[in-house]
Amino acid sequence: MTLAFFLTILCLGVASGVLTLDPRLDAEWEEWKEKYEKSYSKENEELRRSVWEENMKMIKHHNEENSLGKNGYTMEINEFGDMTVEEFRKTMNYIPVQTHREGRSIRKREVGGVLPKSVNWRKKGYVTSVRKQAYCNSCWAFAVNGAIEGQMFKKTGNLTRLSVQNLVDCSKPHGNNGCDWGDPYIAYEYVLHNGGVEAEATYPYDGEEGPCRYNPKYSAANITGFVSLPKSEESLMAAVATIGPISAGIDIASNYFMFYKKGIFHDPKCSNDTVNHVVLVVGYGFEGNETDGNNYWLVKNSYGKQWGLRGYMKMTKDQNNHCAIASYAHYPIV
Ligand SMILES: *[C@@H]1O[C@H](CO)[C@@H](O)[C@H](O)[C@H]1NC(C)=O
Ligand SMILES: *[C@@H]1O[C@H](CO)[C@@H](O)[C@H](O)[C@H]1NC(C)=O
Ligand SMILES: *[C@@H]1O[C@H](CO)[C@@H](O)[C@H](O)[C@H]1NC(C)=O
Ligand SMILES: *[C@@H]1O[C@H](CO)[C@@H](O)[C@H](O)[C@H]1NC(C)=O
Repeated sequence: MTLAFFLTILCLGVASGVLTLDPRLDAEWEEWKEKYEKSYSKENEELRRSVWEENMKMIKHHNEENSLGKNGYTMEINEFGDMTVEEFRKTMNYIPVQTHREGRSIRKREVGGVLPKSVNWRKKGYVTSVRKQAYCNSCWAFAVNGAIEGQMFKKTGNLTRLSVQNLVDCSKPHGNNGCDWGDPYIAYEYVLHNGGVEAEATYPYDGEEGPCRYNPKYSAANITGFVSLPKSEESLMAAVATIGPISAGIDIASNYFMFYKKGIFHDPKCSNDTVNHVVLVVGYGFEGNETDGNNYWLVKNSYGKQWGLRGYMKMTKDQNNHCAIASYAHYPIV
């Protein structure tokens, strides 16, 4: 837990003295706590309840607007209900991106100019099932392994779940920092220089960083290089269509993301050049009539199957690089 996290709690703690809780939500609060096995000290409970009430209010308001056809996606309360977006970002997502290193460019003309209107690599067997990072900033490791798993499947016909814990524990000397943060670029460098990554089966995930236990005997996948995509949705689309699942940085700008349920996600607060979370883009498509322009990226997240569309999300596509989805995208060469 960082100092800033404590400060956030302290600041809220001071504020909570003047907050009044809504007694009509008592039963719902008790139910929610039971469902997600939450328990608090007496002082902390009031504070967490007030954060939860704010989130509940926001979700209700959003879904009401949605029923009037305004938003295009719905939200629901979930296990993150007692967190502010600042706390969420600090414990679930944060990755620093100091420099954007542009790589080889992939353009439409390289594939004859015609890309499919929709792509879904899950249906082709390229994608392992959704997992849960828990309270560890390992999103970058899930996304990088997801991209390698896809390319290994393409090459060998075998879909093997790779070890996220291996990347969390062992890519520190390359510049990552275990459960605190990580950069997908550095994770690819680690796999490349290390001469492999183990499978989940031999090096299972425990969501806490520990000493590196990599054993070359159990190397389950290798890469011979990796490609950074240019910052454009066109390049990302061409890569997703022709290569397979791609790891991509995105911006989580508000608590809308935390409570996404279904529909095509968009967030007016999103920037198109900041990234603080990493996901796996496994396809793209559109809702309704193709000419309506309701295009989306199909994104695999690492918050478990209870979150969103069974662990997946549809994110707005072709609207000025919404939430920076094309700003920090990579894929491995195997
Ligand atoms: C897939 O993995 C299994 C078990 O590790 C192995 O026996 C088999 O040969 C592999 N198949 C291919 C096509 O590599
Ligand atoms: C990856 O490369 C290393 C070093 O060349 C080798 O020892 C290892 O067996 C390779 N792993 C796989 C899965 O081919
Ligand atoms: C889709 O939109 C086009 C152009 O507006 C229209 O001609 C077509 O009938 C629509 N298709 C469907 C299935 O609604
Ligand atoms: C980011 O958004 C601005 C408009 O808000 C747009 O001009 C710019 O092209 C976008 N950047 C990318 C990489 O799409």
